[in-house]
Amino acid sequence: MMSLDDLKRAVARAAIEYVPEDCIVGVGTGSTANFFIDELAGIKHKIRGAVASSETSAKRLQGHGIEVVSLNEAGTLPVYVDGADEITRHLHMIKGGGGALTREKIVAAASKKFICVCDASKLVDVLGKFPLPIEVIPMARSYVARQLVALGGQPELRMGFTTDNGNVILDVHGLQIMNPVELESTLDHIAGVVTNGLFARRGADVLLLGTTEGIKTMVA
Ligand code: A5P
Repeated sequence: MMSLDDLKRAVARAAIEYVPEDCIVGVGTGSTANFFIDELAGIKHKIRGAVASSETSAKRLQGHGIEVVSLNEAGTLPVYVDGADEITRHLHMIKGGGGALTREKIVAAASKKFICVCDASKLVDVLGKFPLPIEVIPMARSYVARQLVALGGQPELRMGFTTDNGNVILDVHGLQIMNPVELESTLDHIAGVVTNGLFARRGADVLLLGTTEGIKTMVA
């Protein structure tokens, strides 16, 4: 019987095929991204380095002797590899369960290809069962929460958590996200919102989904 970790490790290994030689690779955050970092260590002499989407991933990369490059130095990246909290067949995602959504969205935006690596439990028909993370400037917390209630959500402050950018996270429960592209834009227009965890305007390009029957590849 394969565990979730076995599935995550398998998709992380499969994602290595998408990393061109001699490139700087964009690296995500979370348990699946951690497996990818560990796999990347095996080809570290074939790449120039990595741009990390969090301090945690940067440390893990450095621990393997992989050079961490700033995005400003690296420029456009050929590929970004990251997990997701939920993903649809249209390759729209909810991300930010680990709180790294802002840097993840930036590195994804600066990458030509987004390869999403997930175990099968992450594939959903409609986004929203997983509470939608929203990174907020601390002084705007209550204002943004009221706006989210007006949109039909139930925001909850992630207690004891500060993002790598010094902000707070509101996790929004109770949303059934029928139009993720539209909601992503609506949320971005609330003053005080830094980033929302919908990755729909720029979704993934390829999904490597780990299932007990093997890896399924879906392309946007
Ligand atoms: C981090 O902020 C998230 O966006 C992760 O990419 C997401 O939570 C997936 O994490 P796991 O691979 O640990 O499920």
